Amino acid sequence: MLIVPLVTKEIAPSLTPLIQLSGLSEWTDEKVKNLLLIPGVMGYLGLDDNDIVGCVLGKFDPFQSEIYLLCVHPLARNKGLGSHLLESFEAELQKRRREYNAQSTDLGGPTEELQVFLEVRVSNQLARRLYEKLGYGCMRIRSNYYKDVAKKDPLLNTYEDATVYQKSLVLKPTAKD
Ligand SMILES: CC(C)(COP(=O)(O)OP(=O)(O)OC[C@H]1O[C@@H](n2cnc3c(N)ncnc32)[C@H](O)[C@@H]1OP(=O)(O)O)[C@@H](O)C(=O)NCCC(=O)NCCS
Repeated sequence: MLIVPLVTKEIAPSLTPLIQLSGLSEWTDEKVKNLLLIPGVMGYLGLDDNDIVGCVLGKFDPFQSEIYLLCVHPLARNKGLGSHLLESFEAELQKRRREYNAQSTDLGGPTEELQVFLEVRVSNQLARRLYEKLGYGCMRIRSNYYKDVAKKDPLLNTYEDATVYQKSLVLKPTAKD
């Protein structure tokens, strides 16, 4: 299994089957394509014999980075790929934040922490366990967040809530520091 950075936005159509297979139906072809056009959006792929079996997508922002989606092919799950993708993504965020600090003229001096946020369905136990294992803490619940009709509560007339997770990444010193 190989983890490689996502280097081209042309990859979008190749990601959709994996994303749909992972049950993240809100991420359509068009939505992924548009996401990859946003400055700062980046990601990693998990490859098995050149097949894409895992993917993480998110956005670097020096103050509020985000993870938009993480998925692993059902046949490749529970072998550590999800965790490795997330760790690769976090390492890249730290690298970009160090580069930002090096160029910053902020009079307060560089911040040694980087905040990362993500949202996940409250019902998604597997993903929540993974995020919590990697140090993400539940910050708040966003009520009525996922507007998919199939999962609407017919009695309460409500949609599924999202758990908002947050992690502070402390910038690790590099070998040259
Ligand atoms: C969530 C997901 C990415 C995890 O990927 P993965 O490659 O299986 O993750 P890992 O192998 O690194 O597992 C990490 C942790 O997740 C939990 N986990 C994963 N699969 C599990 C399973 N079948 N049973 C119990 N716990 C499990 C465990 O806590 C595990 O930690 P451990 O290794 O100490 O047991 C994958 O299940 C997936 O693609 N789900 C569908 C898409 C999704 O819901 N994405 C998240 C929302 S964006």
